[in-house]
Amino acid sequence: MKILVATEKPFAPLAVNMIREVTEAAGHELALLENYTDVADLLSEVADADALIVRSDKVTAQVLDAAKNLKIVVRAGAGYDNLDLTACSANNVVAMNTPGQNSNAVAELAFEMMLYQARGGFAGKAGTELRGKTLGLMAFGNVGKYMANIAKGFGMDVYAFDPFLSGEAIEKAGVKVCKTVDDLFSKCQYVSLHIPANDETKKSIGFELLKKMPKNAVLINTARKEVIDEDGLLKIFAERGDISYLSDVAPDCKNEFEEKYKDRFIFTAKKMGAQTKEANINAGVAAARQIADYFKTGNETFRLNK
Ligand code: 3PG
Repeated sequence: MKILVATEKPFAPLAVNMIREVTEAAGHELALLENYTDVADLLSEVADADALIVRSDKVTAQVLDAAKNLKIVVRAGAGYDNLDLTACSANNVVAMNTPGQNSNAVAELAFEMMLYQARGGFAGKAGTELRGKTLGLMAFGNVGKYMANIAKGFGMDVYAFDPFLSGEAIEKAGVKVCKTVDDLFSKCQYVSLHIPANDETKKSIGFELLKKMPKNAVLINTARKEVIDEDGLLKIFAERGDISYLSDVAPDCKNEFEEKYKDRFIFTAKKMGAQTKEANINAGVAAARQIADYFKTGNETFRLNK
């Protein structure tokens, strides 16, 4: 079987070697398409692939139509808003993700941005500390749990809102429960988003929630830029000079931030949350193993589509 790794933002070389080892040990062949800028390259490479490993690369109906032999696609990572699951099912392609494998890297990036911002970008002025501050986790999944552990080490007061988890499960992790999103935003100076981008969550974080945040509010977004209502974000920035926005990937309104709100934002140049050697190895190798196992035993753990 031909397993294609198609990554517009490549894995670390060591991760690619390890993916190759797993693939070849299972008797399959590895093909690599890295750093591509034209979807036409993906369309031609995928034409004879039996399996596909991607990161945030878009697997659209067009890609699936071109992939006549494709049986399985694995998103090496957590968020699968880049996979057209309906088209996968229509083309009899099994779609999976690798939840949890890059979560520590994402949580560390959120903290790195928080620390950098709290110390004013290390520019020499007096900053603030995280100790004793409130942190609200918007969803308590894999990343949220890593965040809670790091935050507790820093002496932060940690809260979480998660409509899919019982209060007990959150409390067991030593985190205080917020029953509503409003409560989370009202209580916490720092709010970190760990929600997927879907029809319910897109543009769900906007002016009304952000205006509830305490003084010197910091919104951290290592989820997806699509969950932010950017008009609302700009409105709160215009009204409140004490709010900051730290985001893994710049919003569409980046220019306005650069013109008006210097020192109150951090935007990464490219999505960096999962961009560590360890996360690349964890997620990439998990993807290769899931594919090898699917071909060998039909194991469909982590299947996303019906
Ligand atoms: C994820 O959903 O797993 C992260 O956002 C990582 O995305 P990436 O693989 O494109 O860096």
